[in-house]
Amino acid sequence: MSSSPKRVLVTGGAGFIGSHFIRLLMAEHPTTEVVNLDAMTYAASHENVAEVADDPRYSFVEGDIADAEVVAKAMQGVTHVANFAAESHVDRSIHGAVDFIRTDVLGTYVLCEAARKEGVERFLQVSTDEVYGSIDQGSFTEEHPLEPSSPYSASKAGGDLQALAYMHTFGLPVIITRGSNTYGPNQYPEKLIPLFVTNALDGQKLPVYGDGSQVRDWIHGRDHANGILYALLGGTPGEVYNIGGGNERTNMWITKQILEQTGASEELITYVEDRLGHDVRYSLDTSKAQRELGWKPEISFDQGLADTVAWYKERRDWWEPIKSGEYKEFYEKQYAGKV
Ligand code: TYD
Repeated sequence: MSSSPKRVLVTGGAGFIGSHFIRLLMAEHPTTEVVNLDAMTYAASHENVAEVADDPRYSFVEGDIADAEVVAKAMQGVTHVANFAAESHVDRSIHGAVDFIRTDVLGTYVLCEAARKEGVERFLQVSTDEVYGSIDQGSFTEEHPLEPSSPYSASKAGGDLQALAYMHTFGLPVIITRGSNTYGPNQYPEKLIPLFVTNALDGQKLPVYGDGSQVRDWIHGRDHANGILYALLGGTPGEVYNIGGGNERTNMWITKQILEQTGASEELITYVEDRLGHDVRYSLDTSKAQRELGWKPEISFDQGLADTVAWYKERRDWWEPIKSGEYKEFYEKQYAGKV
């Protein structure tokens, strides 16, 4: 991999994948400075970055990436940007997409503009396989047209296009990664795996949408963060790299694994009304990243899932406080009358 970056602005670094990225970046590049710009919205937690908080190379700025003033300040002296900040939960986007458009589209634009003025060396846009839509057979390559189907994925596609337009128009050195479904420690318990693990540990129902036959391709948060780091440091501006784990599973397979590993009863499985516009299958062809970046996922799904379940078993102190408050409000809205 190429030499260590001088100063990296990580947005959304107190979130799930962003915090894995910061830990990895700071451990592997002992001279690199990190500025973490995070709006500390519901899915962020200072605990996710507690390990690096006292490192003199680390600084934290609380702020919104759509706020040009805050972004301009945070961008000072920055050589590399990694934009993790995003609204990312499909179900929330179905309830209302304004926050998604603000952060994922407007925020990306504001960051690109500030990065252009600063003259950064690299701008890494963290995106998702969901911008490609759903695929019945075969796998998405980076050439696949953008066919996002949810308000969330449409917002991410908008951000990708803004960033690429900044490359085309102004020469901002933009690199995009499109990741598959990510799991692991520190993930807010609204996504499938942490929601079902924590519900199972509490003896609460597991709300399976539709018949549970939908397929996702799973990657561990650390592998995903590593792929992003490879792309940031070794990728070619203007290129897109798919970052996936190569672990395609049905939601029902995941559900049964979680029940087995938590020792919870199959009776907790509750079939609920399907998600509107539910994408049937995601599948990523990651050969370009493997070939051109020399990256590959390293954590087997069996091991990663077992470690993740163990982490949630141990870290009730992390997720129990989350499951009250704002979370409860969303849970009621999303699952009321269904579970
Ligand atoms: P999710 O974790 O929301 O990720 P995404 O929608 O971005 O893929 O959902 C993963 C899969 O799990 C998806 O097919 C929807 C399904 N799912 C359920 O069946 N029940 C749930 O309560 C949730 C949150 C997801």
